Amino acid sequence: MLFANFIFSIMFIMLAAFSKLVYKICQKCMSVLNILHYPDSRLRIKAKPVKEITNEIKKLVSDMLETMYQAPGIGLAATQVDVHLRVIVIDISEDKSDPLVLINPEIISLDGNQKSDEGCLSVPDFYEPVERAEHVVVRTRTLEGTDIEIDAHELLAVCIQHEMDHLIGKLFVDYLSEMKRSRITKKLLKLQKIEQTG
Ligand code: NI
Repeated sequence: MLFANFIFSIMFIMLAAFSKLVYKICQKCMSVLNILHYPDSRLRIKAKPVKEITNEIKKLVSDMLETMYQAPGIGLAATQVDVHLRVIVIDISEDKSDPLVLINPEIISLDGNQKSDEGCLSVPDFYEPVERAEHVVVRTRTLEGTDIEIDAHELLAVCIQHEMDHLIGKLFVDYLSEMKRSRITKKLLKLQKIEQTG
């Protein structure tokens, strides 16, 4: 009986070690995150501020960058990968060499206006004109923990405003007419249904 207990304990320890190893390997390889698609209600959750830049936050940022580059896209908010923290990654450079990480960003000022076609990784394949401020000043924390101000115009300004909307549960489709929005909703729901049933 004692011997059986011993064997059982050894097996349990081995199983625990094995699952820990599998978990570690998966953490390493699962760096491309699943992007939520509109009209998923989780896209409406308001993100909370990051309290401390821990290793988990650093891992989240690197996974978000990889997810954005792979998509490919020029911006991604944590909300879109179902993490409800005030974290954004952006890269508007042509060769994907200039990542910008925004932690707990706050808008200080907005002025001017511009209208441009916007798309979103959570609203795949739809591009519609949206009016935004032309110039935005944002105070944000970097991944290194320094507080900086970003002075952005044109595309970067649009991108920052679009991503910051995600953090409060807002999407670019909210700026469109009811008719356009419901057309997009219907098409995406239809696509999601097809994907689910295979
Ligand atoms: Ni978006």
